[in-house]
Amino acid sequence: MVKLIIDTDPGIDDAMAIFYAAAAPDIELLGLTTIFGNVTTKIATRNALRLLEAVDLELPVAEGAAAPLSLPPFAPSAQVHGAEGFGDIPAATPKGQPVAEEAADFLIRMAREHKGELVLCPIGPLTNIALAIQRDPDFARNVKSIVIMGGSLREGGNITPHAEANIYHDPHAADVVFAAGARLVMVGLDVTHRILCTPDDFASIAGQSPELGGMLQEMSAFYLAFYETVGKLDGCSLHDPAAVIACTHPDLFEVETLPMRVSCSGETSGATLEAEVGTRKPTAVCIHVDAPAVKSLFLKRLALLP
Ligand code: RIB
Ligand code: CA
Repeated sequence: MVKLIIDTDPGIDDAMAIFYAAAAPDIELLGLTTIFGNVTTKIATRNALRLLEAVDLELPVAEGAAAPLSLPPFAPSAQVHGAEGFGDIPAATPKGQPVAEEAADFLIRMAREHKGELVLCPIGPLTNIALAIQRDPDFARNVKSIVIMGGSLREGGNITPHAEANIYHDPHAADVVFAAGARLVMVGLDVTHRILCTPDDFASIAGQSPELGGMLQEMSAFYLAFYETVGKLDGCSLHDPAAVIACTHPDLFEVETLPMRVSCSGETSGATLEAEVGTRKPTAVCIHVDAPAVKSLFLKRLALLP
């Protein structure tokens, strides 16, 4: 059983990842922390609470940073995820509230309380994780691993020709994380671009899980329509679910172990690059994936939901 915290900017594929984690029998979800990216941090917190209520899980949600470490704030990715983060599904107010603790402090405390056991899966910009590293010199040692959805080794970018969106939205934070010496796994575009879900796949999920699968199917229409506008007609990528699946099924991913750094300026800003050997502890960078196996796990487990 993996003890997991997801740091998230929900977000349509974030919603898929959180529903997957709720359904997975090998994941003990301990809470969510929120960050800007697909939406503002405030909306991310509201959406995270709403997703947990949908899956009937009473877990802490800790609100994170409102802006990147050094760059000015970016506009949310409304063209990809909709103005409120869930495509055309209208905003709804959750019953619950976030905890009083800030996300970075919550992460520090949880990493101490579950020393050596906590797996952290950031599926948005890495600001909260960088703040936890900067505030607590033991944080990188206390977590078991950090499985990042972000970056790209050879695939090129998805927000610029060089950068993947989560890293682009706070490159300084990502560089802090790659330099921290924690056990890191990078689940980037090299693998997530190989794992595609079609309208038929979402219809099949909704057929077996009318309530929550139906919600994902409704959201996915907006996401799939965006993919079509950028010429991707064979489905949408399961970016965030792939990272959560990598936490429990590393065997489905082939990695290259490389020290990594992040470009923080100019036209390559947000690009994840190989660092000089010996300068940083290496990251396990996913370069190949058994895409049919990841997708089948995703479809099979979501079908368990109501
Ligand atoms: O590049 C893909 C990532 O950017 C995903 O986490 C998606 O939700 C967006 O945040
Ligand atoms: Ca995300």
